[in-house]
Amino acid sequence: MGVEQYCPPLFSVAPMMDWTDNHYRTVARIISKHAWLYTEMLAAETIVHQQGDLDRFLAFSPEQHPIVLQIGGNNLDNIAKATRLANSYGYDEINLNCGCPSPKVAGHGCFGVRLMLDPKFVGEAMSVIAANTDVPVSVKCRIGLDDHDSYNELCDFIYKVSSLSPTKHFIIHSRKALLNGISPADNRRIPPLKYEYYYALLRDFPDLRFTINGGINCVDEVNAALREGAHGVMVGRAAYNNLWNTLAHVDTAIYGAPSSGLTRRQVLEQYQIYGDAVLGTYGNSRPNIRDLIKPLFGFFYSEPGNNLWKRKADAAFQMKNITTVKSFFEETLVAIPDTVLDSHVAELPSGRKDLFANVQGLLPPPYETREEEVVVYA
Ligand SMILES: Cc1cc2nc3c(=O)[nH]c(=O)nc-3n(C[C@H](O)[C@H](O)[C@H](O)COP(=O)(O)O)c2cc1C
Repeated sequence: MGVEQYCPPLFSVAPMMDWTDNHYRTVARIISKHAWLYTEMLAAETIVHQQGDLDRFLAFSPEQHPIVLQIGGNNLDNIAKATRLANSYGYDEINLNCGCPSPKVAGHGCFGVRLMLDPKFVGEAMSVIAANTDVPVSVKCRIGLDDHDSYNELCDFIYKVSSLSPTKHFIIHSRKALLNGISPADNRRIPPLKYEYYYALLRDFPDLRFTINGGINCVDEVNAALREGAHGVMVGRAAYNNLWNTLAHVDTAIYGAPSSGLTRRQVLEQYQIYGDAVLGTYGNSRPNIRDLIKPLFGFFYSEPGNNLWKRKADAAFQMKNITTVKSFFEETLVAIPDTVLDSHVAELPSGRKDLFANVQGLLPPPYETREEEVVVYA
């Protein structure tokens, strides 16, 4: 697909392991009709080896469109097979993870962020994915890792991958990864954000599309990134930890679409129908109530009653008579005032005014192509 036809989503919710599961995506979609949703990363090997049980990993309800499958892997055969197996589920895009620093992922050979050291392989992997699917493909990466953190090295990666494969869209988590044993959580906090690298990519690769990611905490800041020229913005933790205040503004404030008009109570009523229908359907009593309630822990963020609600939730998880999501809500929602449950989303919270201040003044010098041996993808 030519870049002129391809527009990345203005707003997407990041892939997050153990967080952006089917349950989270269900409630996210009730709140926002326009946000693009990413799956958690799924290893290509898992998809290939779970062929008898694929629905558990890949199935989603049609309401979840637009939805992107993120895969991880370092074996071209498995990446090809996984892509073919995923095709029948109808994902809207397939994304390759080149950003995960987890020792479980990056520590075992070339996988996750370590793939950034082997752009030739990433080019091959992306060609293999594209050859096995009809939907657009994209790469999610960091701006570098360890000492490989110069702007030129980032550009070499982008240049090679986009020259060797039909990849036109890159999601840039705008901090490098440190593979010195710090935890994945610290790897999302300690390396500084360098938005200037992201904006320099827009200048130096006008034929490609880039989504900015990392440290963007609310819809006001998403709009600030877009005003600065970003093609798309991906938000991770804020869309989970502050679910309602983030996602309930997306349709109106980013897409200019009408508000759904839903209150939090109405969102929970819809989610309850889903939750009670899916309870126990994976076997071994999973998903259980705790699995289904977990994505809601950021739903009442900073509201009166939030802490009491969480304490009641912890207690309710132990109660023998709480066997449905409905009974869970009846037991716990008394902690939340009606004014919170029945009001519409509050005004758009203001973001940090200085987030992209002077970013244009900080841009690194333009990239000069150094890799002459690259054979350009036709
Ligand atoms: C719990 C958690 C799990 C994550 N899992 C993934 C993953 O599976 N794939 C991936 O590319 N990034 C993963 N990330 C990184 C996010 O996609 C995102 O790049 C990062 O959180 C920075 O964005 P933020 O500052 O908006 O949260 C994860 C982040 C968190 C918090």
